[in-house]
Amino acid sequence: MKPTSTARIYRPTRRNLATLANVLARGGLVAAPTETVYGLAADALNAKACRAIFRAKGRPADDPLIVHVDTLAQAEAIAEWNEAARLVAKAFWPGPLTLVLPKKPGVPGIVTSGLPSVAVRMPAHRLFRQLIRLSGCPLAAPSANPFGYVSPTTAEHVRDHLGRRIGHILDGGASKIGLESTIIDLRDTAHPALLRPGAISKEGLERVLGLTVSAHGRTVPTKARAIAPGMLERHYSPRTPLILSPALSPELIGRVPANEALLFIRKPERVPPFKNVFWLARSGGSLSEAAHNLFDRLRSLDTGGWRSIHAELAAGDDPLVAAINDRLSRAAAKG
Ligand code: TXA
Ligand code: MG
Repeated sequence: MKPTSTARIYRPTRRNLATLANVLARGGLVAAPTETVYGLAADALNAKACRAIFRAKGRPADDPLIVHVDTLAQAEAIAEWNEAARLVAKAFWPGPLTLVLPKKPGVPGIVTSGLPSVAVRMPAHRLFRQLIRLSGCPLAAPSANPFGYVSPTTAEHVRDHLGRRIGHILDGGASKIGLESTIIDLRDTAHPALLRPGAISKEGLERVLGLTVSAHGRTVPTKARAIAPGMLERHYSPRTPLILSPALSPELIGRVPANEALLFIRKPERVPPFKNVFWLARSGGSLSEAAHNLFDRLRSLDTGGWRSIHAELAAGDDPLVAAINDRLSRAAAKG
């Protein structure tokens, strides 16, 4: 089932961190954990190293990378800052928030896909920050999955799909948040725009900015792009059609065919003993718990041989509703 992997998984010892930082400083690739998802990192100022990220992921060159920093000084060296950016960085960094700002000349065009802007984030993960510090490089890192696949939240997820294309994976356990960062475009300070929902909500950003944040969606369309032939690995399956339901009724349990899975946000009260019923959080559990488990659950259901998956959408006014439903909808769109 799993392709043979040639990648080594490193435990986060001091010695291994030094080894991996050295790989990065010399222009190599390292997959490493952040609090959102695992990233595939390279020196952001080394065009050749960044080109290797695109190759390993099978990522089209017109889909730009996020640059990760350890300090504000590093962030200011790559992007033109403004007052709005300072406000949100003060409120939410380090954390799951990426800012799109005008880029400074030192950033190679390959990182930004030739755009005059750059996406920058200070992650909250101790190990990722240590890699930036020890390597001395800001690190460009997209999610560490082949292009178009579900993002990885564990070292094993990375190995399962990229294990033959990269050499080094740092294991930091499961990513705490489990969804990619919120992306906000702050180039025009009067008109901030949300490019991707995440754990930092639009409302939270609006409170800090004192402005409405528009949700125009992505400026960089990634959905409609064709995936290079031969890129799809057989065992991965947004092949399993995902069918979204605003409210999946527990009444359906036992009524859908046994080869169709039901995926609830929270465990329904009193689940009859059916093998096709799954959930993302315990009964009464939080949406943070659901977000944390989402990608892992989608991956395991994908390899479970189901004919289809009926998935419940999140509801209510929790700030994570938009982000969870965005990822479920993307997964469904591929089906
Ligand atoms: O949580 C995350 O953001 C993770 C971890 C590893 O930090 N990274 C991540 O990267 O999700 P990736 O490559 O899967 O998503 C990056 C997205 C691009 O697809 C693009 O939509 C947006 O960031 N982006 C990057 N640079 C941009 C730019 N200059 N303008 C607009 N959007 C940009
Ligand atoms: Mg990604």
